[in-house]
Amino acid sequence: MNEMTPVEMPGKTKPKFGSGPVPKHVAIVMDGNGRWANARGLTRIEGHKAGELALLDVVAGAIEAGVEYLTVFAFSTENWKRSPEEVRFLMGYNVEVLRRRRDQLNAWGVRIRWAGRPKRLWRSVTRELDAAEVLTQKNSKLTLTMCVNYGSRQEIIDAVNQLAGEVALGKLKAGQITERQLERAFNSSFVPDVDLFIRSSGEQRISNFLLWQSAYAELVFDDTPWPDFDRRNLWNAISDFTNRDRRFGAAVDKPAKRNRAK
Ligand code: FPP
Repeated sequence: MNEMTPVEMPGKTKPKFGSGPVPKHVAIVMDGNGRWANARGLTRIEGHKAGELALLDVVAGAIEAGVEYLTVFAFSTENWKRSPEEVRFLMGYNVEVLRRRRDQLNAWGVRIRWAGRPKRLWRSVTRELDAAEVLTQKNSKLTLTMCVNYGSRQEIIDAVNQLAGEVALGKLKAGQITERQLERAFNSSFVPDVDLFIRSSGEQRISNFLLWQSAYAELVFDDTPWPDFDRRNLWNAISDFTNRDRRFGAAVDKPAKRNRAK
């Protein structure tokens, strides 16, 4: 891949999207690494390794499509339940991928951010995430948010506890807390609502990812396991999105003309 620009790849030509706008914020559950690997007689860890290039290609495709925010689920608050070997690998791999790719992402104009609970997360990982945030803080082409030790319920409960503390200090009034105030207390407060929510690998679940922010997201479930996913899968999802009718709870009365029987 070209180092400076996320160039169009041979055989990967962006399709003509539908009439609606391109999603501003795309969130992705990068699922299926383990099954992809096991089906090939490989270990789950090999599956995660194969997911790195898929992520890079999707970032490139998101830039080409004009997406402004891409948020990916790299490690959930529930992933600590995995084997100690897999957890150790994923922690180390987050550090490695950030080190290996941050200059390339920086050259592409990507702003790297992270969302998640610092508690329990390895110091080596938070250090690397912080360094990538500082390096790329002036970029504005695309904000890539790595959700590491992230859980949506935990994010909401942490925000509620913060606001409860502010009520106790008299800074906020009980009974008058607004959606905006709660959102401002989220650790992912810098991302807007999700427009398009994608999950790879055929599973059709939200899995505690950006629950509040996805209240009106369009959902796309793609059967492709994450290691085989690339910008074309992203563009297909965007194409689908641009043909959907988003009503946000509103409705328009358009009765079809009826063929009146004689
Ligand atoms: C979900 O697949 C994937 C993860 C929990 C890890 C995501 C990591 C990557 C995509 C590698 C890229 C690297 C970084 C650091 C961003 P799974 O393990 O749940 O797969 P399964 O459902 O088949 O078991």
